[in-house]
Amino acid sequence: MSRPLQRMFTEVPPRYDLINTVVTWGLDRRWRRMAAEECLGNKPEKFLDLCCGTGDLALTVCRLGGGGVSVAGIDYSLPMLEIARAKSASWNEGRHISFIHGDAGSLPFPDASFNCVGISFAFRNLTYKNPLAGQHLAEVWRVLAAGGRYIIVETSQPGSRLIRRVFHYYLRWFVRNAGFWLSGSKGAYNYLAESAVGFYTAEEVRGMLLEAGFREVRYRPFLFGAAGIHIAVK
Ligand SMILES: C[S@@+](CC[C@H](N)C(=O)[O-])C[C@H]1O[C@@H](n2cnc3c(N)ncnc32)[C@H](O)[C@@H]1O
Repeated sequence: MSRPLQRMFTEVPPRYDLINTVVTWGLDRRWRRMAAEECLGNKPEKFLDLCCGTGDLALTVCRLGGGGVSVAGIDYSLPMLEIARAKSASWNEGRHISFIHGDAGSLPFPDASFNCVGISFAFRNLTYKNPLAGQHLAEVWRVLAAGGRYIIVETSQPGSRLIRRVFHYYLRWFVRNAGFWLSGSKGAYNYLAESAVGFYTAEEVRGMLLEAGFREVRYRPFLFGAAGIHIAVK
C-alpha cells in the first residue's frame, strides 16, 4: 500500500460510522438513503457501490431493491470491507451482495457490467486534486451499460456566501476536531475538512461529468447546498 489516502482509510474504520453520525448529526444516513432511492430509480438489475467503505449505500440499495437487484461494493481499504461484510452478514443480505477489494482506477469488471453506479462521500476522494480524476470517471463510464446512471452523493458548496463561510468554519473547527478525538487520526480528518472546504461547486462537478461524456446531468441540493446528489446518464 503506497498511497497516503489509502493508508488513511485503513486507520479510521473502527469508528468511521460513529464519526459520520456525530459530525453530520445523523443526516449522512438520510442522504445515503435518498441516494439509494435515486439509484433504484431506473430499476437496475446490477448495481455497483463504488468506494463502498463500510457498505451502507450498497446495503440500503439491496434492502430497498428487494430481490430484484444484484449489488456489488468495491473499496481499496480492507478494514472498511471487513466491516461491510460483517454488516452484510448481520443484516442477512449476504445472498445479494458481494464486497470486493479493488481500486477505482482499474475496476475488475468487464465493460457495461452495471445499470447503475452509486458513490457516497467518496467522489471527492477520486477527483479533488487527484491526478487520476479522469481515469476514475472513465472507469465508471466503461463499466456502465448504455443508459446506465451514475449517482453521486457528496458535499458541495452552499450558494450563499454567508452560509458557505459558516459551513467551512464548521468543517475546520468541529469536524476536524471531533474526527481527530474520536478516531485518533489527525491526517484523515484534516484531509476531510480541507478537501470539503476546497471541493468543487455543483456547477463544476456538472462540467466534469459532461466532459467525461455523461448527459442529462442533474443536481439535487440538500441543507442550503452543503451537500447534494448529482445524477448523470451514460
Ligand atoms: C469517505 S469514505 C466513504 C465510504 C462510504 N462510501 C460511505 O458512504 O461512508 C471514502 C472511501 O473511499 C475509498 N476509496 C478512496 N479512493 C479509492 C480508490 N481509488 N479505490 C477504491 N476505494 C477508494 C476509501 O477506502 C474509503 O472507504
